[in-house]
Amino acid sequence: MPTVEIVASQNGPNLLKVDGKVVAALCRCGHSKHKPNCDGSHRTAAFTSPEAVVEVLK
Ligand code: FES
Repeated sequence: MPTVEIVASQNGPNLLKVDGKVVAALCRCGHSKHKPNCDGSHRTAAFTSPEAVVEVLK
């Protein structure tokens, strides 16, 4: 069974990881023009937030 993690990256998107590999980057700054995906707009928006593991499913 794969391990699924959701990690809030520092100053960036929520990363969905399956078996350690990033399969999706989801916007959490609210500035993406392609929600729910991150389009890099968090950089120009100067979004700041700490890194954190949100969920681990095994
Ligand atoms: S987190 Fe990257 S655009 Fe919102």
